[in-house]
Amino acid sequence: MPLPLLAELESFYDAVPRLDARAEVHGGLTLFVRDGEGFPYYARPTFPGGEPTAVDVRVVRERQRDLGVSQAFEWVHETTPGMLDVVEQAGFTVLRAPLLVLDGPVRVPEVDARVRVLDPEAPGFLHDVAMVRTIAQLSFSAPGTATGETGPRDRDTLLPTVTPVHVPKFRYALAEIPDHGPVATGMTQRAGDVAEVVGVGTLPSARRRGLGAAITAALAQDALDNGVARVFLSAGSEEIARVYERVGFRRVGTACIAETE
Ligand SMILES: CC(C)(COP(=O)(O)OP(=O)(O)OC[C@H]1O[C@@H](n2cnc3c(N)ncnc32)[C@H](O)[C@@H]1OP(=O)(O)O)[C@@H](O)C(=O)NCCC(=O)NCCS
Repeated sequence: MPLPLLAELESFYDAVPRLDARAEVHGGLTLFVRDGEGFPYYARPTFPGGEPTAVDVRVVRERQRDLGVSQAFEWVHETTPGMLDVVEQAGFTVLRAPLLVLDGPVRVPEVDARVRVLDPEAPGFLHDVAMVRTIAQLSFSAPGTATGETGPRDRDTLLPTVTPVHVPKFRYALAEIPDHGPVATGMTQRAGDVAEVVGVGTLPSARRRGLGAAITAALAQDALDNGVARVFLSAGSEEIARVYERVGFRRVGTACIAETE
């Protein structure tokens, strides 16, 4: 029998870090520790059914401090409602990110752009991965949805300094517009038949012309075409959630993220 939706997502959240990290269980929390390269992971409620306590949070923070990684916790509020209080009482500010699942067919926006999902076998793939990382870095340096000046010239300055690290669990997309080249990007990460869309970013100079939505649509359709049964994502804010809703995603909960340096 298929798992209920939130259990399905929780199972994904537990599975995906295990692809390139080891899991340490500390009571109601599981801390994922990466030995190789890449962003350090967070701790989540132990799957299934972990109910983290204040003591668990304290123990994991100490462990994160010892490991030299940021103190970071992530969970779904509807699955583990008690965790919010515990984490806030430990002094964290918690980002409440709308959690959305694709509900029905993908709605592809009409845009004046070439949107493609990268083929890992194609020539130039690693160069394109470097492009993805470059655009993501510049986009996330300008949070929110407003347009701005950062654009292709900044991208071309940064690109040669970026090392293209390809992680096999990812699929990447790029959107290119006439005369400016690639300006928007995003990725999916997959575990089993669930895929999460992450890292959607548009250079500030190219925002508000449908590219964020077009990238999301291309990645979601690519996941479905490759046998994924569930596509989901979390949005950095309510206004960003609107971009995804236009593609066919529907709000199902709140993903909580707490982090200190
Ligand atoms: C969030 C982000 C990816 C959106 O990218 P984008 O390419 O501007 O997205 P879209 O163009 O599809 O949608 C943005 C807005 O433009 C509007 N829009 C889309 N096409 C348009 C057009 N042709 N003309 C005018 N407005 C348009 C959309 O309706 C939306 O408006 P809204 O804010 O009122 O809902 C981008 O702002 C970004 O990179 N932010 C920083 C990184 C980030 O937070 N990423 C998301 C992580 S969850």
